[in-house]
Amino acid sequence: MKCKITGKLIQPFMSFGKMPIANGFIEKKNFPDEFFFEMEVGFNEDLSLFQLNDHPKPEKMFNENYPFFTGSSEYMKDHFKKYADFVKKYIKTNSKIIEIGSNDGTFLKNFDNQSSQIIGFEPSKNVADVSKKNGIPTLNCFFNKENVKNLKDYLGKTDLVCASNVICHIPDLNNLIESVDLLLSSNGTFIFEEPYLGSMFKKVSYDQIYDEHIYMFSVSSISKIFQKFNFKLVEAIPQNTHGGSMRYIIKRNNNETIQNIQKLLTIENNERINSLESCIKFKKNCEISKKKIINKIKSLKESGKNICGYAATSKSTTVLNYCNINTNHIDYICDTTKEKVGKFSPGMHIPITDMEHFQNNATDCVYLFAWNHKDEILNKEKKFKGEWFSHVEL
Ligand code: TYD
Repeated sequence: MKCKITGKLIQPFMSFGKMPIANGFIEKKNFPDEFFFEMEVGFNEDLSLFQLNDHPKPEKMFNENYPFFTGSSEYMKDHFKKYADFVKKYIKTNSKIIEIGSNDGTFLKNFDNQSSQIIGFEPSKNVADVSKKNGIPTLNCFFNKENVKNLKDYLGKTDLVCASNVICHIPDLNNLIESVDLLLSSNGTFIFEEPYLGSMFKKVSYDQIYDEHIYMFSVSSISKIFQKFNFKLVEAIPQNTHGGSMRYIIKRNNNETIQNIQKLLTIENNERINSLESCIKFKKNCEISKKKIINKIKSLKESGKNICGYAATSKSTTVLNYCNINTNHIDYICDTTKEKVGKFSPGMHIPITDMEHFQNNATDCVYLFAWNHKDEILNKEKKFKGEWFSHVEL
């Protein structure tokens, strides 16, 4: 499927090669039928938008087997509590609140169900079921105009629409913003956080790019996209999560003053973040990073060291497949998610084990795939005395 924001095809500047579904942890019997797509990225200069050229259908990724649970990180749970406290200044008693991609309800459970009317949209059934069990009113469907129109009591009356790490998953941004438009009250607010393009460029964290992450946003792109729909980006606040994210606060285009946007746009312009030139530089940096990590692993293996991976993240699918790192290099990847354990990593088919396996079979070196959760993980794995490494500086 091609991206649908301007209807214009983009010229890809880079391909990461054939990629499987990033969260498509797979059983042996399904290896022969594994789905792959060519993962190319391009830059839409009109909108300053970094994006995938092509992506699998959302139903292929977000279904009853989606294995990502927000609550798997204690740090993220704490982050979502603080995020909820932040957004509370945009609501009043009895406000209607909607979260797009509410996952297991980690964010919405910070709201009092008695004093606000909350609804989560979550298309992945298994994850939506967990959220419902947690007492969060959850609709197991995609967030789009068709589904939003059924929420008659919320149309034009919703004070807050929130999202995190999900707007970049939605291919049809036109439909998304029109859906938000249908819901928001005249002074309503749309707040969302997403991995930040500037951080990805700086860290060369190209593993932020995978099937689910169709867009990598910046202040410039968000500002331009929302202007097209009579909305205004009024504030943007950098976040530490996911290796560097940005929180965007959007209002209707009426009387809101813009807070720090001009300052951030100037920084992005000065750092040339929104330019094809930076994309080309990023491509070169990805190639350098690939060579470095392959050499690192080669030299560890040559010196007789064994290696395991820590955390079977979606991001790891990009690194492993782009760098062709397989079972010749990494013995297993341990992870806390029971839905992943016992399966194999997408594409490279490295076995996924539980944490007990790591405790009992610690290797000489550990490739930390969840480098964005470094503090939390190193803190709980103090007993491990071997070497931690990653393609991103730890
Ligand atoms: P995250 O970086 O959020 O993943 P993604 O790239 O998929 O967005 O990390 C979540 C994954 O990492 C999930 O599979 C659980 C695993 N994990 C652990 O195994 N142990 C941990 O301590 C943490 C924080 C995550």
